[in-house]
Amino acid sequence: MVSPEQSLLIEKIKQLKKEKNVTLLAHYYMPPAIQLLEKDGGIADFTGDSLGLSLFARDAKAERILFCGVRFMAETAALLNPNAPIFMAAPEAGCSLASSITAEDVRQLKAQYPGVPVMGYINTYAETKCELDICCTSRNALEIARSIPSDKIIFVPDYYMGQNLAEVIKRETGKELILWKGTCEVHEQFKNEMFTSDPEADILLHWEVPNQLVKEQLDARKGVLGSTNDILSYVKRSKSEKFLLASECDLAFTLKAANPDKEFLTPCVHCKYMKETTLLGIVNALNAIGSDEEQAFLIQLDEATRERAIKPVERMLEFV
Ligand code: 13P
Ligand code: SF4
Repeated sequence: MVSPEQSLLIEKIKQLKKEKNVTLLAHYYMPPAIQLLEKDGGIADFTGDSLGLSLFARDAKAERILFCGVRFMAETAALLNPNAPIFMAAPEAGCSLASSITAEDVRQLKAQYPGVPVMGYINTYAETKCELDICCTSRNALEIARSIPSDKIIFVPDYYMGQNLAEVIKRETGKELILWKGTCEVHEQFKNEMFTSDPEADILLHWEVPNQLVKEQLDARKGVLGSTNDILSYVKRSKSEKFLLASECDLAFTLKAANPDKEFLTPCVHCKYMKETTLLGIVNALNAIGSDEEQAFLIQLDEATRERAIKPVERMLEFV
């Protein structure tokens, strides 16, 4: 629960947000005190998955946005809303997938497989996005892969997500995915041995977990393989009372808040990049906004990168 020190910081954040006209967006992997909506006693104005956050940022009439997530997500927000400056409390917060691939890597893949379309996970930096044909998030990856009119697709950078998607896509359409070797350092840690208890519980598997775990778990029990949003809607629909979560630990907070009568067990693996954003860091960023210090928290993209990187993102948004 919230400590007295955290309560003070939360009150300060609410005051500064109002004073500086800042809208605060938070990913579901943020710590509970950051992802809880202000109307429910927290600080966020909107909490969502990566696609939800991108859409909210695009449509927001906000004067300024403080993005609580990781850098590639804030960059996407900056691509989609050039009118509102996008700030981050932890502007260097990375992602093992985004840093696994560069624009040059994608150029080399295109040279190796001429004419094969490149579908890139949103978990890439803006420079890498410049080389993609279309982006996807975990929520729309399957639909976009189905729609691409080619019997081969290059999918970057998540190898495990690629394997999981490839199995479904091959079965449904015969299409083949060519994969890159990036992994999410959080989701790759989930192993079958972590989920041997509670045979009556359903399993909640994010696309990014290893394919071997998916096979072993979905052979043994009911569950879902998909995006964060698929996990949230599966739990809402399900008649089960107990769930095992194979995704970022703080998603269990989101799930519990939306389903207070259900039980969620998780080996609790945190994304260290998401946890770079803290209440104190948010206070510091908000204090800086509007002063000479604000540049340190601002997400800036040069115009040439912006012009190219937005194209695959806009193509993706035709599917929303
Ligand atoms: P979502 O697209 O489900 O929000 O996932 C983002 C992410 O970083 C998963 O690890
Ligand atoms: Fe990147 Fe994995 Fe963290 Fe998501 S959970 S931001 S994919 S390192």
